[in-house]
Amino acid sequence: MSAPWWKTAVVYQIYPRSFLDTDGDGVGDLEGIRRRLDHLVWLGVDAVWLSPVFRSPMKDHGYDVADYCDVDPLFGTLADLDRLIADAHARGLKVLFDWVPNHTSDQHPWFVESRRSRTSPKRDWYYWRDPAPDGGPPNDWKAAFPAGIDAWTLDAATGQYYLHQFLPEQPDLNWDNPDVVRAMHDVLRFWLDRSVDGFRIDVAHGIGKDPALPNEKPEWRGIPHVAVNEQPSTHVQLRAIRRLTDGYPGDRVLVGEIFQLFTHAHDRYFGENDELHLAFDLPASVATPWEAPAWRDRIARVAARLDPIHAWPTWVLSNHDTPRHRSRFGSEAKARAAAVLLLTLRGTPFLYAGEELGLEDAEIPPDRRVDPGHRDGCRAPIPWDSSSTHGWPTPDPWLPWPPQAEARNAERLLADDTSILHLYRRLLSTRRSSSALRTGALTLHDDTPDGVVAYDRHDQQERWTILINFTSQLVAYAASGTITIASDAEGERQRYSGVIGPDQALLLRR
Ligand code: NOJ
Repeated sequence: MSAPWWKTAVVYQIYPRSFLDTDGDGVGDLEGIRRRLDHLVWLGVDAVWLSPVFRSPMKDHGYDVADYCDVDPLFGTLADLDRLIADAHARGLKVLFDWVPNHTSDQHPWFVESRRSRTSPKRDWYYWRDPAPDGGPPNDWKAAFPAGIDAWTLDAATGQYYLHQFLPEQPDLNWDNPDVVRAMHDVLRFWLDRSVDGFRIDVAHGIGKDPALPNEKPEWRGIPHVAVNEQPSTHVQLRAIRRLTDGYPGDRVLVGEIFQLFTHAHDRYFGENDELHLAFDLPASVATPWEAPAWRDRIARVAARLDPIHAWPTWVLSNHDTPRHRSRFGSEAKARAAAVLLLTLRGTPFLYAGEELGLEDAEIPPDRRVDPGHRDGCRAPIPWDSSSTHGWPTPDPWLPWPPQAEARNAERLLADDTSILHLYRRLLSTRRSSSALRTGALTLHDDTPDGVVAYDRHDQQERWTILINFTSQLVAYAASGTITIASDAEGERQRYSGVIGPDQALLLRR
């Protein structure tokens, strides 16, 4: 049986606010994404994941949803979204939506109704509790941001607290209430019926709560509750969501965001192949430093944990919640080497829009900061060309441009076939045409020099060797093959000489 599409795909995450504006309000929109679909086809990705575009007061830039079944006017209309899906499908691109099941906006009609009175028919759609005897919150859970705040807010009108693992404007839904389950399943059906190919599930590990709502274990006190929340009821819910999704044709996919401090729990979210298809292992993905031992260890551990349970890994270096890896790793040379790693590992890679341009985080002056979670830098707008507005209709979008946008933009890099943009394209096209790189085995080399990670990808047809030099010195390492791709575009199509350049990564055809 051939692999489902999501095992061989490369997914490209779009943060819609920052991709491309077309109506001049300084915020990206659906039409902007539609106009650049050909960039994605040229690049060679297989699927796009859109961060939320639904109606929202934008306290958390769309992760506070006020209507799951309509598009926020900032981004366009439902018709624009339908057109985008159709145009993407016409180009062979799959489309994943971001579904936020853990919480709604406090402006969602469900919460507005729930808040109205203690006897509201929707009271139990959220977590409402009386104050503790001292008048404080019902337990000591902390929210994820702003840093240090309680996960409970007192509603003066009804004298009870409600739970929010994120902002006070993001009340947690009560998934133990079957009406909530039904309503959220309807949301999934609404989009599956409109041909969405799957969902990235926000905070997938957060939806079930311990019904007793106990205080945090002493060792976890002060840590955001969402980072340690792990409940059997979440798995019950995910199985039901999987059954619903599997009822649709076309291998619709569920990709869960799992952001737990204890990484071991991540593997439970595949269930018996009846929960998530794919899961992000955050924060391990974004916390692994650019050092050979750390990556060697991580690659070996992922295989040791996931292979026995037949789960398929995901790989991600950057997203909208964390500084870009180009900024974290410190140079373009390292970001190029990281691209070779990301696109030759065994599993499904996720790219974050702009990494193919080698973008760094923007410097955000204090008066331009807009995110309560301090994540503005990696959300800077994408510069498309060298003009003063970089292809946007206005020179001054919602966030400042990333550094060197006059040189580091899609148009400029397109014109230079040694650029990082062309490196991504070569990697994607080589991966697409190689069964070994898409689904073959991965064998780590033993006894590599300190600063090197080396592995083979192989199946019955082909064998590739990947060499990654994490150091800024030349390193000698014996291997054989022809250089198909070099991260710095040096020496391609020549025999490998036995030496890996500083910060260089090589893909050798055996
Ligand atoms: C994870 C999302 O990636 C992040 O941007 C958001 O703030 C939280 N979940 C809450 O929805």
